[in-house]
Amino acid sequence: MRPLKILPSILAADFSHLGEDVRAVMEAGGDLVHVDIMDGHFVPNISFGPDVMKSIRKITPKPFDVHLMISPVDPYLEAFAAGGADIITVHAEAGPHLHRTLQAIRKLGKKAGVAINPGTPENVIEPVLDDIDLVLAMTVNPGFGGQQFIWPVLEKVRRISAMCAGREIDIEIDGGVTAETAAACVAAGGNYLVAGSAVFKGGHNAFAGNIEAIRRAA
Ligand code: DX5
Ligand code: ZN
Repeated sequence: MRPLKILPSILAADFSHLGEDVRAVMEAGGDLVHVDIMDGHFVPNISFGPDVMKSIRKITPKPFDVHLMISPVDPYLEAFAAGGADIITVHAEAGPHLHRTLQAIRKLGKKAGVAINPGTPENVIEPVLDDIDLVLAMTVNPGFGGQQFIWPVLEKVRRISAMCAGREIDIEIDGGVTAETAAACVAAGGNYLVAGSAVFKGGHNAFAGNIEAIRRAA
């Protein structure tokens, strides 16, 4: 059984004190930092770039899981690797040659992930199963935190976990994960649960309780 991990999405942090929020949320029990990078082109929102990530990287020794919602993605892989990413996940549609992109990530010494939008069929991962360490199933359309969980995606997550059976591939669920949806995510085969608004609601004093509620429910 792949270990369960809770990944706070720092998109939901208060950017006026991002560093303090990252420290607090990881001390409160987050397992990996989930970093959402948006370019205003692949998704209709802009977050921040590799320099900001690099400046918060030193705040915690815990791994950085970088979710690149950018296209084209290839020109930026090196910058995020240098900025301290441990896992780099790209969307299946983010470049002309998915296999080449995944190889480039591994060549940089990082774990490679593929993200699948709610409208993307899971069979895109079949030809690259040997080249990935993680599959990220989006349970909202990418671009914003705080959206409603899209339940039918869990059927696809079930099929993804069957495809990945017997392999060392983590299955990440991203979007609308809360204490209410976590159990279904795990039942479908997810083991990396990303949560933004459900973790950051209520401020620093609430972080530990929020993370624990998701972990318990899962
Ligand atoms: C959405 C991002 C998510 C987002 C999750 O495009 O990939 O990581 O921050 O936020 P919540 O948990 O609020 O849906
Ligand atoms: Zn994300």
